Amino acid sequence: MRKSLWTDTVTLPEREALQGDVKTEVLVIGGGICGILCAYLLKKAGVDCLLVEGDRIAGGITANTTAKVTSQHGLIYDRMTHALGQEQARVYLEANEKALEKFRELCAQIDCDWEEQTAFVYSRSDREKIEREVQAVNALGFPAEFVSRLPLPFSVEGAVAFPRQAQFHPLKFLEGIIRDLPIYEHTFVKNIEGHTAVTSHGKIQADQFIVATHFPFINRHGSYFMKLYQQRSYVLALEQAARLGGMYIDEAQGGLSFRSYGDLLLLGGGGHRTGKKGGGWAVLEEFASETYPRSIVKYRWAAQDCMSLDGLPYIGRYSAGTKNMFVATGFQKWGMTTSMAAALLLCDLVQGRDNAWAKVFSPSRSMIKPQLFLNALEATANLLTPSLKRCPHMGCALKWNVRERTWDCPCHGSRFERDGALIDNPAKRGCKCLGNGDK
Ligand code: FES
Repeated sequence: MRKSLWTDTVTLPEREALQGDVKTEVLVIGGGICGILCAYLLKKAGVDCLLVEGDRIAGGITANTTAKVTSQHGLIYDRMTHALGQEQARVYLEANEKALEKFRELCAQIDCDWEEQTAFVYSRSDREKIEREVQAVNALGFPAEFVSRLPLPFSVEGAVAFPRQAQFHPLKFLEGIIRDLPIYEHTFVKNIEGHTAVTSHGKIQADQFIVATHFPFINRHGSYFMKLYQQRSYVLALEQAARLGGMYIDEAQGGLSFRSYGDLLLLGGGGHRTGKKGGGWAVLEEFASETYPRSIVKYRWAAQDCMSLDGLPYIGRYSAGTKNMFVATGFQKWGMTTSMAAALLLCDLVQGRDNAWAKVFSPSRSMIKPQLFLNALEATANLLTPSLKRCPHMGCALKWNVRERTWDCPCHGSRFERDGALIDNPAKRGCKCLGNGDK
């Protein structure tokens, strides 16, 4: 595994595994930023809670993000206004702006390189698309602006500018908030039976559960294996490249993203569905060597994100029939900000309080989308593919990832080392006898 800039500069203190059986009001499962924020806000609200993590906390996507905190998630507001109406689009924007505000409040007390920046979504080919997005966002009451020039090494047709967004160091932030949280690491939850979570180190009785495990691990409720797929995306941290103020991302599939961290330029892109071919670091390296010929790659890493069917996260009850179980997933590459929105929302729901954001994020919302059909097609094709290397999640044929030298599952995105060790869920265990796929 390659180290990100964040993991190379901060090591979070290790916590012990659970010893024996315990009880709590709320059990948070999953120690990424979302689970940690849920536990933090619940504890602040006086709710008895525990967090368990199967490995180390903040070891997954939280350590491999580009760490932008923004309510600007691509060009979503024009699309959302048309699909769901202005009221729901406003609620989504408000939830993310409130998340940003909460981060601002917490980061004022934590040394985590918090910097307010303007966020830009640019287009290199379609000015009208950008104009429509600016109009849609303005109609929601937010002061977005149209910008025709950016300090990027190419021209653009236009960009949407969101003022007062932010970037930070995610692990420095977490270091500041985990200190007093009740966390057990190396404690893998195998199953939930009624009010009991069965872990690798004992049982935990809880009144309520929050599943924040990146990809939800319980298959018998919620059908997340139908409603989610995963995407990989790649980052290079470059020395001796440009130093930029602001955060930038292309609206087009396969475009590039930019932000600075100190002297480093974080260049992102090369994304593709997990288990499929895509540009990867090669695309970024080619761009960097042409555009910044003196630049040196200081770090390289990859992230893996859960993508929902309609472009909005699933936050709320795990399924309509699970009264004491909640979930947060499908953050669409914007997990820093929506994790905080999820924590604020779930903190209300587990305490039995209404929250006006619940409807737009509800995991039980109806969704007959083309992506559902594509997901089903992908799963069927991979289930029927003849191969001895099969994924322990639901049996799809694994694909060898030449770039990262891992076995990846195109169905729902589980990933494995060459020796079979599990890297990314939803699979709950490793896979024996994989070996080197280069041969
Ligand atoms: Fe579901 Fe592999 S991740 S079958």
